[in-house]
Amino acid sequence: MTESAGRFAGRLLTWFDANRRDLPWRRTGEPWAIWVSEVMLQQTRVEAVRSAFEQFMRRFPTPADFAAASDDDLFVAWRGLGYYRRARLLRDGARAVVETHGGVVPDAPAALAALPGIGPYTLGALASIAFGRPEVAVDGNVERVAARYLGSRVPTHTAAGRKRIRTAVSGWLDRRRPGDFNQALMELGAMVCTPTAPDCANCPIATGCVARERGLVDELPVRKKPQPAVQVTARVALAVGPEGALGGRIAAGEANGGQIELPGAGMLTDVAVDDLRPALLERFGAHVRVGGVVASVRHAITCHRIVLHAHAAEVREPGRLAWFPIDDRTPWTTPSRKVFRAALHTGGELRV
Ligand code: ADE
Repeated sequence: MTESAGRFAGRLLTWFDANRRDLPWRRTGEPWAIWVSEVMLQQTRVEAVRSAFEQFMRRFPTPADFAAASDDDLFVAWRGLGYYRRARLLRDGARAVVETHGGVVPDAPAALAALPGIGPYTLGALASIAFGRPEVAVDGNVERVAARYLGSRVPTHTAAGRKRIRTAVSGWLDRRRPGDFNQALMELGAMVCTPTAPDCANCPIATGCVARERGLVDELPVRKKPQPAVQVTARVALAVGPEGALGGRIAAGEANGGQIELPGAGMLTDVAVDDLRPALLERFGAHVRVGGVVASVRHAITCHRIVLHAHAAEVREPGRLAWFPIDDRTPWTTPSRKVFRAALHTGGELRV
């Protein structure tokens, strides 16, 4: 570590020691808990992760507990976090830990890297936070802080941009406290060096920050232009009977495979009212009488902004559809649960 790197890490860690948030996964040194939290935090905000993390750890306190989870258990445990692929990969990782490491998360970076679902970020976070290994963990927050500090205009989504940032962060890393150093950089990105309106006046590394010195804070980091949002009007049939609602299990391999959805033409397919009935016949062999709209909800999937209309429906012949209970244990998709909440006022019983 050079002297200036030492000063960078020192100022950052002093700030972190005084400002670190009290987060449930920071009260444990348990590698499994840290792994779970880091996977949850990858695409989900800290506030949404807090309660999901605590429930998850009560339900699956060890890798062996999660390795044995069914798909339905997994969907329910991951509810509210989205991107269910992460949960499946985490379960693959837990299974490998059970099969090859006797259920104990290995501490060697090479053994961690060999586990399914552990990419460079999770590897760095887990190795440094749980095991004190001198590895960096570069997420979107760290990229932003580093690109600004360096004044780097190299786009952060390119290999060259990522390399530049990784090299710089590796040079700043405090090897005695690598886990705290990584968390401090992420925390700084989340609390101070935010995407818009960063609080440079209260930044511990404002001195030496090229973006601040040159007035480039609002221009950095240079990122890929976001794709314009695609507006979709989707429709589903809402048939409710004594056994629950009519739904279809999404095929494995499709988005949200294994979950249950209210039947329609697909969430990303624009449909006119008159197209819903034939779509149900074609996709599911179901004969359904389609009535008026009983609820409309909004949902966003990557670059799609969906308005989803749920139509009252009467079932003549369910075809490949089936009745599923409307409760917390059944892995309805998030838009389906939004519809239940809006149409059936189930807010009290059903977490949407
Ligand atoms: N984002 C992802 N992991 C984090 C951590 N351990 N601390 C703060 N922010 C994070």
